[in-house]
Amino acid sequence: MSPPNTRKDRGAAPCTLVIFGAAGDLTRRKLVPSLYNLRSNGLIPNEFAVVGVARKELSTESWRESLSKDIREFATGKVDDAQWAWLRDRIHYSPGNFDDPATYRRLGELLADVSKKQSTGSSVLFYLSTPPDSFAPIVKGLGAAGLTKDADGSFRRVIIEKPFGRDLDSARSLNNDIRSVLREDQIYRIDHYLGKETVQNIMVLRFANGLFEPVWNRRYVDHVQITVAESVGVEGRGNYYETAGVLRDMVQNHMLQLLALIAMEPPVSFEADAVRDEKVKVLHAIRPMSPEEILVRAVRGQYGKGLVGDKGAPGYRTETNVSPTSATETFAALQLFVENWRWAGVPFYLRSGKRLPRRRTEIMIRFRMPPQLLFRDTAVGEIEPNRLVLHIQPEEGISIHLKAKQPGPTIVLNTVRLDFDYKTFGEPAAATGYERLLYDAMIGDSTLFHRSDMVEAAWKIATPILDVWRSLPPRDFPNYAAGTWGPASADALIQRDGHHWWNGDDDNGGAK
Ligand code: BG6
Repeated sequence: MSPPNTRKDRGAAPCTLVIFGAAGDLTRRKLVPSLYNLRSNGLIPNEFAVVGVARKELSTESWRESLSKDIREFATGKVDDAQWAWLRDRIHYSPGNFDDPATYRRLGELLADVSKKQSTGSSVLFYLSTPPDSFAPIVKGLGAAGLTKDADGSFRRVIIEKPFGRDLDSARSLNNDIRSVLREDQIYRIDHYLGKETVQNIMVLRFANGLFEPVWNRRYVDHVQITVAESVGVEGRGNYYETAGVLRDMVQNHMLQLLALIAMEPPVSFEADAVRDEKVKVLHAIRPMSPEEILVRAVRGQYGKGLVGDKGAPGYRTETNVSPTSATETFAALQLFVENWRWAGVPFYLRSGKRLPRRRTEIMIRFRMPPQLLFRDTAVGEIEPNRLVLHIQPEEGISIHLKAKQPGPTIVLNTVRLDFDYKTFGEPAAATGYERLLYDAMIGDSTLFHRSDMVEAAWKIATPILDVWRSLPPRDFPNYAAGTWGPASADALIQRDGHHWWNGDDDNGGAK
């Protein structure tokens, strides 16, 4: 069944988008350019408006002016003046504190006014692009002012940015707070990784092809590696990062979602809840580790100064707003097991870090060796296993690494790479990555958003690790130099099983 207001692949229904925290970076860098792109693609209806809410005292006119400058800088392509003028004229601003009931009263009046003038009807999508301690107060403020009630086929939905909680208890209590006001189907917990083209392609690869499913299990897969490497540091976000660390910032949310997409069973349909039911089962099948296991199967790191490419990079502890004795981890590597019939005994290695040698997100599925090595007595060289690599970013595509006979009179085997590069599909329309997510929230498709049980299941995996790490402060930080692939303990974690991290086939001496 389609949710109400679903008009997939056509324009969304008339509505107003209200952005809380509108004066922040996300609005000008991503949200407004995404709305511009959606309108250019005919996916936003004529009856549409944007209302910004933030503490900053601004008038509608001055906000329009500053966004008109920002769009020139952050649009993903050339800005068409008429198209931008259309959007600009639909943008409004309403200043206010998030804990002041008057803010919501004024917002209600403005929404009524906008609805009259721009025929947007009474459907409203609220986007909470604020620090996380404002999420619950805003939802409660909206509820108390009667702004979350949907009636007569209209919708009231709330998109909530990350981080959603900082451990299992806080995530549960945030879920309880917002669910005291909203139904689950009104809540859209956003994860920008799920808006990435190649991430969306994982399900297509697995479930629209008959080729992979028969080998997608413990009989044929030796192990899986998921790497989200960033070359940047904390980029002026020291205040936030000191309260987070990579386990909260990347692993608990984005990376466990990637793992779930790789490990999930085929859903019975592509309806949002059918897909999310299968993903949450995977998360439940990852047994939280005991403190003893955590000491062996989870490692953390923090970068010291070093060289990324040929540029000098400062150590984490000397970044702005970071404590000179910080124990925050900027790198983590884990070995997880999905304990179900499909995956029993297959290790999933996850790692993510800042200030690694390059920006690269990849999922590598390493298959088992053939049961018999018939070529043992020939000049085979090193026999390597088959690999399937999903390149998420910056390269986007899929490659399969196979053995083939080198042309010539003797049998010499070599690895060849079959490549699919997204670029060959035609130049993709430039995008911020938020278009699909905003559009889906407007049409009521929550497939790509986290459900409350998914968030809690992911925190159940991450929280015991955070607890152990908190109770045993690291003694060796910083333990990797900026521009390297993380601490030696991360190599030891995977080498113990006879493997190496996959750093791409351009940089992978001896990967197993
Ligand atoms: C965000 C994290 O969620 O993802 C950042 O808070 C990180 O620390 C970013 O840099 C990475 O996103 P992307 O799309 O550049 O891989």
